[in-house]
Amino acid sequence: MMKVGFVGWRGMVGSVLMDRMQKENDFAKIDATFFSTSAAGGLAPDYKQTQKTLKDAYAIDELTRLDCIVTTQGSDYTHDVLPKLRAAGWNGYWIDAASALRMNKDALIILDPINGDNINNALDNGIKNYIGGNCTVSLMLLALDGLFKADLIEWISSMTYQAASGAGANNIRELLLQSGKLYDSVSDIINDKSATILDIASRVNQIINSAGFPKEYFGAPLAGSVIPWIDSAMENGQTKEEWKGAVETNKILGLTPDTVKVEGLCVRVGVLRSHSQALTIKLKRKDLSVEQISEMIASANPWVKVIANNKPDTLAGLTPAAISGTLDIAVGRIKKLKFGDDYIALFTVGDQLLWGAAEPLRRMVNILVS
Ligand code: HSE
Repeated sequence: MMKVGFVGWRGMVGSVLMDRMQKENDFAKIDATFFSTSAAGGLAPDYKQTQKTLKDAYAIDELTRLDCIVTTQGSDYTHDVLPKLRAAGWNGYWIDAASALRMNKDALIILDPINGDNINNALDNGIKNYIGGNCTVSLMLLALDGLFKADLIEWISSMTYQAASGAGANNIRELLLQSGKLYDSVSDIINDKSATILDIASRVNQIINSAGFPKEYFGAPLAGSVIPWIDSAMENGQTKEEWKGAVETNKILGLTPDTVKVEGLCVRVGVLRSHSQALTIKLKRKDLSVEQISEMIASANPWVKVIANNKPDTLAGLTPAAISGTLDIAVGRIKKLKFGDDYIALFTVGDQLLWGAAEPLRRMVNILVS
């Protein structure tokens, strides 16, 4: 049985990964060992594996015994530990959710429904590093799978609506704390019909801009507001999250850089889980109807779900509330734009912790053991 070690399994992406692996009975196919950066010697989670205690996530001799390491611990851990493992002669598979190695030549970004052939070729060619993609990129590629397969896309403008959970567990707590503060500030008058809505709004506006408003993690109010900045600045006015849109898309598709142009603005919104994106797409053809385009999108893979472009269906199925916790990739609001017959817009929602993070990793483990 393949010996697989897990690092970072207790974190947010790690917990979703464990949950999915348990549901899909993945642990029965591998010999799992759990590692910890802080509690080595403690009790490992019980997935009926032989190794019951936690090993030290920095113990190179323990890690080099494995055939495969799956890490959701983050880029710092990757930068610290992987070079030491390779220097010690370890030739195992490194499966990683962090962005540290994504653009390296000796690493493949994994999203097997899209680039399964590239994964198989990479395995044949001895590539050992398999890295999960940026969440918005993976979700966008699954949503547009049918259009990419038909080589229909010239460029994409992507405007994102990214959930608080994409920034980390502390950020979810902060969003809820902020929301609570907003409610508390008006709880005595919110049901009082004699209070004007301007009184209510003015109190909320005061509290949201007050010095004590909790914003340690976001650096700004998110409840009752949006933050049009995700990750660090690049040199050309882009943020790093926006830069990833183009470079990772082309790398996943196995194209030379900039073949498909992807540009846009990435925005954090007060959603707990699931990322949404409004996409404007320049097609290479003008002669396709909305029905033909919708059919191509709907039939591309088992997860994409086309939502009819009407209000009841959109409200019922094209929201983070409807999608969170599922593997569905909802695609709706598909319409032609007045710019020309080769321009379309659509809105897509996917759970960034599932297809955007955990799912490609567990599927890669399954590819290795199959
Ligand atoms: N960078 C993403 C976000 C996390 O901030 O939402 C998922 O890759």
